Amino acid sequence: MAAQTILVTGGAGYIGSHTCVQLLAAGHDVVVVDNLSNSSTVALDRVADIAGRSVAFHEVDLRDRVALAEVFDDHDVDRVVHFAGLKAVGESVEIPVAYYDNNIVGTVNLLNAMADHEVFDLVFSSSCTVYGEPEVVPITEDAPIGAVSPYGRTKLYIEELLRDAAAADKRWRTVLLRYFNPVGAHPSGTIGEDPTGIPNNLMPYAMQVAIGRLERLRVFGGDYDTPDGTCIRDYIHVVDLADAHLAALGALDRIEGCEAVNVGTGTGSSVLEVVAAASNAVGADIPHDVVDRRPGDVPCVFADTGRAESLLRWSARLDLADMCRDHWNWQRQNPAGYGS
Ligand code: NAD
Ligand code: UD1
Repeated sequence: MAAQTILVTGGAGYIGSHTCVQLLAAGHDVVVVDNLSNSSTVALDRVADIAGRSVAFHEVDLRDRVALAEVFDDHDVDRVVHFAGLKAVGESVEIPVAYYDNNIVGTVNLLNAMADHEVFDLVFSSSCTVYGEPEVVPITEDAPIGAVSPYGRTKLYIEELLRDAAAADKRWRTVLLRYFNPVGAHPSGTIGEDPTGIPNNLMPYAMQVAIGRLERLRVFGGDYDTPDGTCIRDYIHVVDLADAHLAALGALDRIEGCEAVNVGTGTGSSVLEVVAAASNAVGADIPHDVVDRRPGDVPCVFADTGRAESLLRWSARLDLADMCRDHWNWQRQNPAGYGS
């Protein structure tokens, strides 16, 4: 794909910042729109350090239609990657209206601003959470969808919204990337995931135990119907995931309408396998106890990656050991995240 101007919503966040690095490295100009509700401009400074040039940054909330239109007025945007959204499953149960407001209203405003400026090419951050509890693994994109949390439903409804838009107006070309479990960090260790408060997700929790910020990891459930009794997930390195966005942007030229694509490695790892790999990367045991199941967890989720290979011409290159090494490298260099 020739160099273009890519607008990245949520570009200061975890996956967005890694994608900005890859976009800049590929020669694209990058415009970031982020309200910094879950991120910091330090991440963008570090993106510039890695890439040797910077993004154009606009501190704008997607719900601010006027400010968003000004960004499109200021830049000749070719394509959009839309990461911006709230993503904590538990929080979405407590404050669902805020999730619908932020994620759905933000997306509607983005689509209106794009159409007003004749931009119709979009890559959207969806999630494997739209599959709910899958009946069959590996999961193909044609599996039934039905999310179980307000967060998951915002993803589901946005997917439907984008399908409806594409059905009504053939100019829309959209790739819905359904991420599995992103972990890891840029190999420089200068950008990475910086969760606020106590992390909900396995890898950041394990790494905060390793660095001494948290005492022990709780392994949720040891009695699942899996080989070692713990849940299986498809962990994917965030740099591979970032590359999948470049591949998806390129694939927009080859698709019509709206296409959903799984982004995983196709390999499942159990919680205990992750703990072992993380301990190996850290060079010390990560203290952990097997405790009760966490409500809402499904036993086994991993991706069928066939469509990513055929449609995006992309597949993951990095494995669990790479993910743990790079996540630890980031955590060790930045024990308190961007606040270090
Ligand atoms: P993140 O919180 O690090 O990044 C999201 C960014 O969007 C943040 O910088 C935040 O400040 C910004 N943002 C939120 N609402 C905004 C708004 N209204 N206007 C402007 N900016 C706004 O999250 P992430 O892990 O990088 O995830 C990116 C996307 O991928 C999200 O849509 C998330 O739901 C989706 N996703 C993430 C995961 C994961 O495990 N991290 C898994 C599946 C899907
Ligand atoms: C969760 C979300 C999913 C979201 C994803 C983003 C739920 C039900 N799903 O996925 O919607 O897209 O995060 O990253 O919340 N675990 C422990 N101890 C911990 C933390 C996790 O044992 O302290 C286990 C969990 O039980 C699970 C596995 O580790 O089996 C992965 O958990 P997590 O990282 O939270 O991801 P998901 O639950 O797969």
